[in-house]
Amino acid sequence: MVVHTAAQPSHDWAAKEPLTDFTVNANGTLNLLELTRLYSDQAVFIFTSTNKVYGDTPNLLPLVEQDSRWEIDATHPYFSDGIDENMSIDQTKHSLFGASKVAADVLCQEYGRYFDMNVGVFRGGCLTGPQHSGTQLHGFLSYLMKCAITGDHYTIFGYNGKQVRDNIHAWDLVNMFWHFYNAPRKGEVYNAGGGRFANCSMKEAILICEHITGNKMNYSYSDSNRIGDHIWYISNLNKFKSHFPEWDWKYSLEITMEQIFEAMKQRVATIK
Ligand SMILES: NC(=O)c1ccc[n+]([C@@H]2O[C@H](COP(=O)([O-])OP(=O)(O)OC[C@H]3O[C@@H](n4cnc5c(N)ncnc54)[C@H](O)[C@@H]3O)[C@@H](O)[C@H]2O)c1
Repeated sequence: MVVHTAAQPSHDWAAKEPLTDFTVNANGTLNLLELTRLYSDQAVFIFTSTNKVYGDTPNLLPLVEQDSRWEIDATHPYFSDGIDENMSIDQTKHSLFGASKVAADVLCQEYGRYFDMNVGVFRGGCLTGPQHSGTQLHGFLSYLMKCAITGDHYTIFGYNGKQVRDNIHAWDLVNMFWHFYNAPRKGEVYNAGGGRFANCSMKEAILICEHITGNKMNYSYSDSNRIGDHIWYISNLNKFKSHFPEWDWKYSLEITMEQIFEAMKQRVATIK
C-alpha cells in the first residue's frame, strides 16, 4: 500500500509560490502514481485530497447565521449528513492550493479508472489529532489549542468567527484507509471528515479550548475572511459507510481536543 500524504498544504502560501505548490501537489502526485503503475501496479494507492476541490461552491448553499455558528437551512438535503461527493468541483474559486489538489485528485481517479489500479481518493475536511503541528495558516484546532495554552494572540478571519468545520481524528482516518486497503476499489472518491459526528465553529472551538485549559483566550477579530474560505463545511460520509459498513467514527471532538491539549502541553513545556 502507498499512502500519499505529502503536500504543500497551505492555501495562502500557495499564492506566494504557485509553481512550487503545483510541482509538489500535482507533479509530485503524478510521479508517485506513475512509479506505482510501473513497479507495483497491484498496490493499493491512497491519496489525501481535500474538500477545497469543491472550491467556494459550498458558500453558495443557503446558510443561516445562528448564535454560535453558521448552519445550513434545515430543509436542504445536505442538512442531515453534510456535503456529498456529487458536489461539482468545476467553475468555482479553489485557491491555488485547491487547484493543484484538483489536478492531483483527478489524476488519481484516472489512474484508477484508466489503468485499472486500486486508487482511493479521500477528500479531507479538517484532519487532526494529538500529533498535529498546527500553524497560523494551517491546522486550526491544534494551533488554537497551542495559543490557548501559551496565551499567544490568535486572529479570527471573517464570518463573525462562526465558520464551521468538521474534524476527523487521524486514527479514524487511518481506519478508513485500512478498510479501503482490505477491499479496494478503482479510482473511488470519498469525502472524509468528522461529519455531523464531530464538527464545530471557530467560536465553539474557542469555548472548548478555554474550558479544557481553564485559560481565557487572547484573540481578536479581523473582518476580512481568507479568500475562498468555506463558511460552512460538513462532510457526508454515507458513501464510504455504505461501501464499508463496519467502519464508524471512534473519537468525538471533545476527546480529540483533550488529546491535542495533553500532547500540546508537553510539547510547549519542552520548548520552554
Ligand atoms: N490537515 C488537514 O486538515 C488536511 C485537510 C485536508 C487534506 N489534507 C491533506 O492531507 C495531507 C497531509 O496534510 P498535513 O496536514 O499532514 O500536512 P503537513 O504539512 O503536516 O504534511 C505534509 C508533509 O508533506 C511533506 N512534503 C512536502 N513536500 C514534499 C515533497 N516535495 N516531497 C516529499 N514530501 C514532501 C512535508 O515534509 C510534510 O511532512 C496533504 O495532502 C493535505 O493536503 C490535510
